[in-house]
Amino acid sequence: MFWNHKNFFNLAIACFFMKPIFLILEGIDGCGKGEQVKLLQNFFYDKNKRIDVFTTREPTYGQYGMAIRHILKTEEDPKSSADELLNLFTKDRAEHISTIKCILNNVSGELCPVVICDRYYHSTYAFQQTQGVPFERIHETQKNFLKPTITLLLDIEARAALERISNGRRGIEKFEKLDFMTELRQNYLKLKSQLDEDIVIIDAAKSIPEVFQQILEVLMERGLV
Ligand code: TYD
Repeated sequence: MFWNHKNFFNLAIACFFMKPIFLILEGIDGCGKGEQVKLLQNFFYDKNKRIDVFTTREPTYGQYGMAIRHILKTEEDPKSSADELLNLFTKDRAEHISTIKCILNNVSGELCPVVICDRYYHSTYAFQQTQGVPFERIHETQKNFLKPTITLLLDIEARAALERISNGRRGIEKFEKLDFMTELRQNYLKLKSQLDEDIVIIDAAKSIPEVFQQILEVLMERGLV
């Protein structure tokens, strides 16, 4: 390409307006994150060809993620293996974030990356705290991980989430018990004031299109879409 002032100006404008986005979807099991991840992915994909959109999730399917999945499948008591899970989720995240950083740093030419991640350290704060690990101890292990651009916390009552899970007709997993999920929801809601970052609470009891509309409005308000 022949570089003149106009090219340079256009690229500067593109880079100014299109910053890499690291977006997290969070919430208790059954809150409907999966659907919203797919809608967001399609939205970014259709919006602009210069946006490179990636979706990813935690726990991963790496060595630590697989060890976590084994524990989640084989144990019934939601409070058991708290320390071991804290340790495994932290190691899994350390591996995962190095891949995410590579993607976010790859702002080549006029291409701009967007990473949408289904669960991140907010899950560790909420779940492992509900398992009994003190907030401060969790904070020591999580505070140095890359902060997201924005976190959308899909909030729904535990009972309604459990109903969705049982309507989906899959088996109930380790953390999917009413008492645990009720406390978990409160621990999630507290994160907004405990962590110094942009966490937005979304009403996830609404229909899928209504939840997506709320998400789009939040992203528009922040100039992210
Ligand atoms: P889940 O989102 O259900 O993963 P997948 O759909 O890929 O099977 O996550 C598995 C469980 O792990 C879920 O109940 C939340 C829990 N979890 C934690 O307890 N701590 C964490 O840090 C993360 C990321 C998840």
